[in-house]
Amino acid sequence: MEFLEAAVEIAREAGTLLANYFERKIPFERKGEFDLVTEADRSSEKLVVEKLRTHFPTHAVVAEEGGGFSGSSEYRWYVDPLDGTTNFAHSFPMFNVTLGLERAGEVIAGVIYDPVRQEMFTAEKGSGAYLNHKRIRVSRVTRLADSLASTGFPSRKRSHNVNIHFYYQLAMASHGVRRTGSAALDLAYVACGRLDFFWEFGLKPWDQAAGVLLVQEAGGQVSDMRGEAHSITGSEHLLADNGLLHGEVVQMFDTIFAGQMPTPLPDLA
Ligand code: IPD
Ligand code: CA
Ligand code: CA
Repeated sequence: MEFLEAAVEIAREAGTLLANYFERKIPFERKGEFDLVTEADRSSEKLVVEKLRTHFPTHAVVAEEGGGFSGSSEYRWYVDPLDGTTNFAHSFPMFNVTLGLERAGEVIAGVIYDPVRQEMFTAEKGSGAYLNHKRIRVSRVTRLADSLASTGFPSRKRSHNVNIHFYYQLAMASHGVRRTGSAALDLAYVACGRLDFFWEFGLKPWDQAAGVLLVQEAGGQVSDMRGEAHSITGSEHLLADNGLLHGEVVQMFDTIFAGQMPTPLPDLA
């Protein structure tokens, strides 16, 4: 079976499993102070990893909850069995399952499935990006001042995250910055033009693999937050945008990294 075809089938099955758990409102456990996990994360991962092993026994699998295995070929799958666990645990309907396939360091196929909206985002290297079989493209917004963005705040090491400075400055300079709670859907939404750009500090390879390919195949641009080359295993800081906004956003980030805040925080009094 083709890689993408298999990934779509597996993501649909895992997504349906997640949707069933979601209906039942299951309890959550804590991996860290604010880092949640549920039975749905584990069951989805088990399903995805077992199916990948059956279809592609020589491929390596890296899965967030630790259920992967090492392979003997140059192919490696990155699996987030439930991206958006905090949303899921609070019955906030914004989550997905995502699989990205890397070959010799390059992501060549990716799937993000949102079972709530039944939206299947797919991409293959060199063949474009799709939403439910329809070709998608990034937005045409050219000015930061006309844009809608999104960002995220990882649950792990939350107190060390400087993103609140970036959030405030970018929110003041744009139409707004959403915080969807699902990095993969943020990337999928940049790819289909619902968002103009997305950034986050501290992403893991499974959060980014499929989404980065989707954005690139939809005509967008991906870099680290300094505008330098990005890789899913080498860069935890990501900026994904429609290409047209890239220069302006990187310039804004540079200003903030330099400690210069274009919009000062208002006084409380
Ligand atoms: C998280 C979500 C969230 C992002 C975090 C991720 P998880 O993934 O994508 O939006 O801000 O960085 O860790 O833990 O729900 O799979
Ligand atoms: Ca995730
Ligand atoms: Ca997850």
